[in-house]
Amino acid sequence: MKFFLDTANLDEIKKGYKMGILSGVTTNPSLVVKEGVKFEDRIAEICQAVPDVESVSAEVTPIALTAEDMIAEANELIKINGGDKKVTIKLPMTVAGLEACRYLTKKGVRTNITLIFTVNQALLAARAGATYVSPFLGRLDDISEDGVLLVEKIAAVFRTHNLDTQIIAASVRHADHVTRVAMAGAHIATMPLKVVEQLTKHPLTDQGMEKFSTDWEKVVSK
Ligand code: E4P
Repeated sequence: MKFFLDTANLDEIKKGYKMGILSGVTTNPSLVVKEGVKFEDRIAEICQAVPDVESVSAEVTPIALTAEDMIAEANELIKINGGDKKVTIKLPMTVAGLEACRYLTKKGVRTNITLIFTVNQALLAARAGATYVSPFLGRLDDISEDGVLLVEKIAAVFRTHNLDTQIIAASVRHADHVTRVAMAGAHIATMPLKVVEQLTKHPLTDQGMEKFSTDWEKVVSK
């Protein structure tokens, strides 16, 4: 399973990239608004900060309601950073989103269908040619449903029907989500930097480091 960062914050993206584990970045309108910057400029800055990752998701705006509106916005977004191929058009899971997805896929543009909450939605997105589907597991957990189980079911259906659309486990909230979606068959998990940082930690690692350090000091102080 690959790691994407789910943020529009440039410092966090640079930090994650430096760790050497990053394969992509996802953004959404809420994350961009939080940064108080111009959307297209920030996507260009992100592309430049992570030159060799596979994907940077840029979502069409919530005012694009028809496929034509979405395609018009996508046509501007794919020009960002000199037509950077990793710019992935994030589209909502609606009839218009599927229509736009099919059109953009035929043009060779990467797509990510977002706000997936059922297996059927994921299957439709895959059949519309989506490069990625993003099931939001944390938001399902929030309403007492099982988000990880959804990822597991989508992975099983995609395997059964030989669909090569990649599953991005999204709305990941903590380390246990990460382990469980990796086991469930997600190709990618996208998460905030603080979750990636949590993954590096274990109390026994800290204790072990401390013991090595105190033992080492005994030798060097002789
Ligand atoms: C993914 O593409 C979304 O931006 C994101 O994971 C949503 O997460 P949230 O439910 O924590 O807002």
